[in-house]
Amino acid sequence: MKLTWLATAAAVFLAISPPAEGAELEAKVAVDAAKPGPVISRNILGQFSEHLGRGVYDGIWVGPDSKIPNTRGIRNDVVAALKAIHVPNVRWPGGCYADEYHWKKGIGRDRPVTINSSWGGVLETNQFGTHEFMDFVDQIGADAYVSVNVGAGTPQEAAEWLEYMTIDKPTELGRLRAANGHEKPFKVGILGLGNEAWGCGGSMTPAEYVHEMRRFSNFTKNFNPAQKEGAAKMLKIAVGPDRDDYAWTDTVMQAWSKKVWSWDIDAISLHSYTWPKKSERATGFDAHQYAELLKSTLWMEELVSKHTAIMDKYDPEKKVGLFVDEWGTWFKVEEGAPGSSLYQQSTQRDAVVAALNLNIFARHAERVKGANIAQTINVLQSMILTDGDKMLLTPTYHVFRMYTAFQDAKAVPLTYDAGTYTEGDVTLPRLDAIGAIGKDGKLWLSFTNLDPRQPLKITPTVAGFTFKGASGETLAGDDMGAFNTFAAPARVKPQPAVIKAGGVLELPPHSVTVIGLDPMK
Ligand code: AHR
Repeated sequence: MKLTWLATAAAVFLAISPPAEGAELEAKVAVDAAKPGPVISRNILGQFSEHLGRGVYDGIWVGPDSKIPNTRGIRNDVVAALKAIHVPNVRWPGGCYADEYHWKKGIGRDRPVTINSSWGGVLETNQFGTHEFMDFVDQIGADAYVSVNVGAGTPQEAAEWLEYMTIDKPTELGRLRAANGHEKPFKVGILGLGNEAWGCGGSMTPAEYVHEMRRFSNFTKNFNPAQKEGAAKMLKIAVGPDRDDYAWTDTVMQAWSKKVWSWDIDAISLHSYTWPKKSERATGFDAHQYAELLKSTLWMEELVSKHTAIMDKYDPEKKVGLFVDEWGTWFKVEEGAPGSSLYQQSTQRDAVVAALNLNIFARHAERVKGANIAQTINVLQSMILTDGDKMLLTPTYHVFRMYTAFQDAKAVPLTYDAGTYTEGDVTLPRLDAIGAIGKDGKLWLSFTNLDPRQPLKITPTVAGFTFKGASGETLAGDDMGAFNTFAAPARVKPQPAVIKAGGVLELPPHSVTVIGLDPMK
């Protein structure tokens, strides 16, 4: 069955002829819901919270004696906000910090003060350790993604951490965990075998890392009886490439192809940030800087495609996933914040960046099994900013909430052509879109209008799905540079999507729209 919202020939014309300023633009989109493809893993909406700046301390942890409302030291406002975006997993304790973290300093009553040499040499009180992290992920309903110390640690230290967290027997470490207040084993959903081993994680060559990866994978055992098999089994993520380091991917995948029974990995990571061409702040940019940044973020498509092609050589069955476990915008820190805090504002431009990246991950659902935006609170492209007892939600947060519809949804093929727009020497596609059948049975469509000046009308044609109505939300802000402040925390927030008679969907400039089509029962 084929249902047409509205047919127009305008999209064909637009593809070849640039419109006059202010002219109405229309584009055709064709969705084939009869051909559901791979599942878009819920894990692409993963978070990352490192001991860095005010990410953990202030952002998550205020301590049980704080006047800021908290549960066992963890901020209630932050927990409520994160619960609403169905965070699948949180990566912790780093980042670079993971490769200098010694877990035994973060358990028990008397915790030593140490130094965070990765991020400004600040003092680390170790008040937020294993138990506090597990409490945090439990409160928000997420899985724990724990990265072990490969760079400065040993396989034994990592193995003991795993035993401490997951053993259900009265071993010395199991008894210690119980004495520290947690009788039952913790669940460790995902385990990172180091971080950026090619850089802050030990400056290793690919061959040196492969040597470590085998040993660490071999000895890090999860003893939790509830995690023995099936979907609950812990995933092991090896350190993958820095951006376009294809040789790294080749070496790690070649090692995996020759693995023996005693070790395995479930995925390799990919780290790629979106940097402006010249150092600039997150706010106060013009249309050309906006276009340059979007162009640079779209590089993710090439990176994922090329790393996937290398992985396909060794793993045509796609057993090993790609986890883009660090991505997002990276600007100059805000005025007055320490350089090592990586504290930046977040605008509507960041929201567009988020949607474009999530769309790339969804389009590569067969290989991309997870992604973690850097980072959750007060660091880089955050979901949340805090100031004392105040908290605000960034435009990126709203995109993440709108995209919860795509968690574990089945991708459907979708074709569109809205032509391009040009700003100086940068030409970009005007539209980016994905579609999927959600777990709720709805057909979900996401449209990003990249053009910062021209609105766009969409006339979708849907095959293989009968529906009785559609509704959704649009996040546009009143300007591409709009952002929320503690004084005006709701300047950028989703509005109901505008769907006109005949099913014409109106996309404002620099906007992200997600709509759900209700199936006819
Ligand atoms: O997210 C900030 C830092 O960026 C991480 O610690 C590191 O892994 C990356 O270089």
